[in-house]
Amino acid sequence: MKVKVEGKVLNYKNIWFEGGKLHFIDQTKLPFKFSIFTSNNYRQTAAAIKEMKVRGAPAIGVAAAYALAQAALEFEGENLDGFVAHIKKASSAMKGTRPTAVDLFNAVDEILKVLEKGRNVEDCRELILNKAEALAEGSLQACRRIGANGEKLVKDGSSILTHCNAGALACVDYGTALAPLRLAHSRGKKIFVFVDETRPRLQGALTEWELQNEGIPHAVIVDNAAGFYMQRKEIDLCIVGADRIAVKNGYFANKVGTYEKAVLAKENNIPFYVAAPMSSFDFSIKEIPIEERSGEEVLYIGGRRIFAKGARAKNPAFDITPLEYVTAVITETGVFKPAEL
Ligand code: MRU
Repeated sequence: MKVKVEGKVLNYKNIWFEGGKLHFIDQTKLPFKFSIFTSNNYRQTAAAIKEMKVRGAPAIGVAAAYALAQAALEFEGENLDGFVAHIKKASSAMKGTRPTAVDLFNAVDEILKVLEKGRNVEDCRELILNKAEALAEGSLQACRRIGANGEKLVKDGSSILTHCNAGALACVDYGTALAPLRLAHSRGKKIFVFVDETRPRLQGALTEWELQNEGIPHAVIVDNAAGFYMQRKEIDLCIVGADRIAVKNGYFANKVGTYEKAVLAKENNIPFYVAAPMSSFDFSIKEIPIEERSGEEVLYIGGRRIFAKGARAKNPAFDITPLEYVTAVITETGVFKPAEL
């Protein structure tokens, strides 16, 4: 992704692993400060995911995989049972960070699977490192292909609504919902993006930051304004990301507010697309756990309390949208209507 630092345009990935350390753009500092957070061990990586220094389904999946590589590197000794127990402990810590995005669970399980192949500690360590790198590269390539598959749906001159941040900052690079828009813009299509501010964590500020860096025309709107613009026929299509597509359940989870945007889109005959890699699919049948975050995130903005003392708040981080509201899902392998999934 393009990043503007002190007047220079640089190219950055959102997350990368070097010398046993995990580096990522610290999203709790954006959009005001561009800084890289370096995590020295899996415990720091777990804390960073919880605090949303790194966030977005694909990004936290990749971060969790690298966290297990960090756990593998820090283990001392040759005892294979001890090593496996250590990795399993780190896996539980990673799975306990955020409950909704399935990418994180899928990535941890992929790493645990390779453990079965290792004959000794050194072997296992190498297998884990290679798997984490492969997952990161796979995620990057998946987003690139989502961009290519989704770009065809974005006509020249169209206005697109997006919710939350499903951009490069939510992935290794490119993004899911933003990948088709990046590509459409780079191919010369004239597009305009409506950016939902996305209370309470304001991920819209991250989307705005990405679009500004790329030079893609856009405007931020408050979360309640989407219906207004849909009714005025100023929105041609919606593209959002997903934290978990539970195909057999017939619904997907994404940032809270997605459901009402999808219902409004259907009411106004506006196509509603979900862009997500296969790592965000859950083929089991079970209820999606919805993360409930602290009410303080609602009661304060930028550290300043905006409600009276004694006010209480509820703060679900995600909601559930039935697939009947979805026109199609844009994946790395193609664009599928819900019934084709
Ligand atoms: O709480 P967040 O910021 O991690 O939530 C992110 C979203 O809901 C994204 O839309 C989703 O993870 C897809 S990111 C490509």
